[in-house]
Amino acid sequence: MSILDIPELALVALVGVSGSGKSTFAARHFAPSQVLASDAFRAMVADDENDQSASADAFGALHHVAGVRLRRGRLTVVDATNLQPHARAGLVRVAREHDVLPVAIVLDVPEAVAWERTRSRADRTLGRQVLARMQRDLRRSSGHLEREGFRRVHVLRGVEEIDAAQVRLEK
Ligand code: CTP
Ligand code: MG
Repeated sequence: MSILDIPELALVALVGVSGSGKSTFAARHFAPSQVLASDAFRAMVADDENDQSASADAFGALHHVAGVRLRRGRLTVVDATNLQPHARAGLVRVAREHDVLPVAIVLDVPEAVAWERTRSRADRTLGRQVLARMQRDLRRSSGHLEREGFRRVHVLRGVEEIDAAQVRLEK
């Protein structure tokens, strides 16, 4: 069983393709108020959680709220794919601005699993090609996260390892 040690005050970036189980993982291990989800912020600014044209505004708002929480000393989890270096750089910046450790938790499931889960969801419309691109972005990201500034990188490979993982907050 993987025990994921996380500082009591951290900015935790979940990293994984659509259908990797980020939102499920966040709900299982963290309080709802600790989780900032890109979907929720798209809905907040555009009334549509799938409106990609709202992404810049949604992430602007998400970063702002993350910064406020960190200033107040609250553990914060970012539930977004975080597959692009620039997306992760934005989170590392917010963490550093508040002297908080950025931590990454990578959920790496087989593409077939992610596809099965995603295509059976009524609230997801992305196609096979988009998922394949996400998977490529994940492959390209692996091994770079420490260099990008994440002080701890936990990589969970496969459905079973993700299922068995436990989060331990360090006092
Ligand atoms: N799911 C599952 N078993 C798991 C984890 C997730 O059956 N161990 C299902 C969820 O119920 C959901 C789908 O798979 O219907 C996607 O999981 P979710 O946690 O929503 O994945 P995300 O990574 O958050 O996907 P997205 O990026 O699209 O939000
Ligand atoms: Mg999700």
